[in-house]
Amino acid sequence: MLKMEGSPFEVKEIHTKEEYARLVEVLWAANFKPYNPVFTAVHPVSGHSAEDRIRDKAYDTEIRWAAHEKNPASHLIYAIDKETGRVAGGCEWLIFHDNPFPKGPLPIACTWYPEGSERAEYTSRFLSQAFFPRQCWFQRAHAGVNAMGVHPDYRRRGVGRLLMEWGHERIDPLGYESFIEGSPIGRWLYEECGYRRVVSLNIDLDKKDPNEEWSRLVYECRPPAILLLWRPPRGELTDKVPSGPWAVTKETWR
Ligand SMILES: CC(C)(COP(=O)(O)OP(=O)(O)OC[C@H]1O[C@@H](n2cnc3c(N)ncnc32)[C@H](O)[C@@H]1OP(=O)(O)O)[C@@H](O)C(=O)NCCC(=O)NCCS
Repeated sequence: MLKMEGSPFEVKEIHTKEEYARLVEVLWAANFKPYNPVFTAVHPVSGHSAEDRIRDKAYDTEIRWAAHEKNPASHLIYAIDKETGRVAGGCEWLIFHDNPFPKGPLPIACTWYPEGSERAEYTSRFLSQAFFPRQCWFQRAHAGVNAMGVHPDYRRRGVGRLLMEWGHERIDPLGYESFIEGSPIGRWLYEECGYRRVVSLNIDLDKKDPNEEWSRLVYECRPPAILLLWRPPRGELTDKVPSGPWAVTKETWR
């Protein structure tokens, strides 16, 4: 448990689905204020009524908790307001101690929308492109951050920074690099924490003669950009640091 001296927040690792459900509530609030198009692509959003939200959040909790339980690299963490017990924010840290992509880059399937639907195809195309660089470049131990969100009531009070520090405290002694497929909203937090943007992706979601559903998805869910942010070991930007993770060799960090 990370307890920053004097901080009103404490960061804890999540160990039960019930705890994770509390974080899901916060992540949904965080990503609709402001509206984050990426979130709606990669989470099961079936509509926008109060009933839709309850059902979709419950389903999101189920599928992501199941994925987390199957993935030994996944650490779900949240920051608690020590005074009130409220969840202020959280994220998933992925810490890979070996090459997670021994088969090289593979397409990523979307399992939370019906197979063959426009939504499943859209999300799969999106994820496969966004995670292609990581799969090509990081054929080695490294870390990453997913689903970072801080409740609108708690913004700019250092919660995001605490969540980042939790991971850095674990990976820095191991000398691991860290890499994030970030949105422009998260960029400033990550840059404050030792990351730098190495590439900006414009995800290709065009389709010849799209139907109405596809056009709507592109309108509602297309991110302005995906920023690939890289943090070298311990966030140290020395002369040894190459231009990007693609240029790292076995000798680089010796
Ligand atoms: C991005 C987000 C997680 C930041 O969380 P936060 O708890 O407000 O961030 P912190 O208070 O720890 O910020 C640390 C530093 O990062 C920078 N920063 C964070 N948010 C910023 C913003 N909106 N604009 C400019 N700088 C920002 C600042 O330098 C800040 O330090 P300062 O407040 O002393 O100036 C939060 O805004 C959020 O949940 N956004 C919606 C969800 C989202 O887009 N997540 C990112 C997905 S990649």
